[in-house]
Amino acid sequence: MAVFLGIDIGTSGTKTLAMQEDGTILASATAEYPLMSPRPGWSEQDPEDWWDATIATVKKVLKAGKIKPDDVSGIGLSGQMHGSVFLDKQHNIIRHALLWNDQRTAEECVEIENKVGGRAKLIEMVANPALTGFTAPKILWLQKNEPKNYSKTVQVLLPKDFVRFRLTGEFATDVSDASGTLLLDVRNRQWCKPLLDKLDIKASLLPKVYESEDITGTLSDSAAKLLGLKKGIPVVGGAGDQAAGAVGNGIVKRGIISATMGTSGVVFAHSDDVQIDPTGRVHTFCHAVRGKWHVMGVVLSAGGSLQWYRNEFAETEVAAARKIKTDPYNIITEQAAEAPPGCEGLFFLPYLTGERTPHADANARGCWIGLSLRHGRSAIIRSIMEGATYAMRDSLEVINEMRIPIREIRLSGGGARSEFWRQMQADVYGRRVSVINAEEGPAFGAALLAASGTGKYKSVVEACSATIKVTGSTDPQAEAKRIYTKSYPMYGRLYKSLKSDFVEIAKIVAES
Ligand code: XUL
Repeated sequence: MAVFLGIDIGTSGTKTLAMQEDGTILASATAEYPLMSPRPGWSEQDPEDWWDATIATVKKVLKAGKIKPDDVSGIGLSGQMHGSVFLDKQHNIIRHALLWNDQRTAEECVEIENKVGGRAKLIEMVANPALTGFTAPKILWLQKNEPKNYSKTVQVLLPKDFVRFRLTGEFATDVSDASGTLLLDVRNRQWCKPLLDKLDIKASLLPKVYESEDITGTLSDSAAKLLGLKKGIPVVGGAGDQAAGAVGNGIVKRGIISATMGTSGVVFAHSDDVQIDPTGRVHTFCHAVRGKWHVMGVVLSAGGSLQWYRNEFAETEVAAARKIKTDPYNIITEQAAEAPPGCEGLFFLPYLTGERTPHADANARGCWIGLSLRHGRSAIIRSIMEGATYAMRDSLEVINEMRIPIREIRLSGGGARSEFWRQMQADVYGRRVSVINAEEGPAFGAALLAASGTGKYKSVVEACSATIKVTGSTDPQAEAKRIYTKSYPMYGRLYKSLKSDFVEIAKIVAES
């Protein structure tokens, strides 16, 4: 049977998996690398680390899966979106890449909106408002702050597309990842020439845009030698990690939505046509399904809020978990279950790294509101989980308002592995939630794109139907649903009440 490799260039590491054409995972491997923060709010990585991790994980997977180079019929790429790799004339890396979670470009975002005549005009051109994480403001930042580096730049690539260049020698990207640059005419699936002109960005800096299933090049001789593969293997467009993850979850048809509770939380809806929220609360990007789109809400610290609690306050639980060889989150969520739904009026706002959806506010901060003497550790933990889940519901509400049908919600990420959090999600969303047989995320989606793009399946939709099945579901419990329905509007009001205070706090911090 043919084998396909899916390579996902993540933020904490690169994950490669080998998938047989029937969807069976033969092997997977991950290699981690550091994230650099040379100044507060900055977030960078060395693209060389991504390439080293790609070589290491491909080799590991071939060995672990006992895969013969002859059996590998296609490669699909996925990766953290929005990051910018700057290459010079010799195709050397000019500086570390600026990542999706880098916050240095607030000024450039305002500048972009001003240059085109306002936010509404920008949304009309590229379907989205300017957000600090996106790529276009990063290019402007380089123009302004590192003019020497900018003058040397001949190519700007997204993370996975840099790896593609090292694999194939081609400068190419796919429509889903290109959407997150803020430079794509999302409606027409091509670079937005009028915007490039307004921002004084040469079109030649950007790679050629393909659909996610299209073959963008083949494995070069030198890359094949490094990876232990055969030259000439087709490399398909692939997708940004969210669209690839959605393919891996089977979110390729109208009505199926995913709620992925990872470090960040993402609510992702397939859409047959371009659906834009006029206020830009959710992103509208091209999907990895040919000729389709998606709408997506991003909660910056969803599972990340619980991770923060584990790292900062749960030493005892982490030590206890080590002793009995279990995951510390099992102990932490057992504690959370001791508190009642709604935590007797305790709310947690999960804005530990600012927020994207629905508030797009870099100043927003995390906080607890409603503490009383009755609240202890269990309520503190439960309120964090509830706050993250309310934040996900915010995205679902926007999607619902846009009249995108929500017929099925598929859970994935860490929040789908815990039965307790699955139930909480059903109760907070007020709907049935389900889980599927595939847990591998974006790397799996990338491998499915490779399988369909090289002709094993007629389309990625067919590839998903053949390999992905719903394996379980959870219905809301009436009493918990009632409590959350009453509490959720208060959760929304708290941000509004605090918004201007967050600005003041940011000023105090900047001046101190
Ligand atoms: C999506 C986003 C993140 C990154 C990193 O818009 O910013 O999901 O792709 O995973």
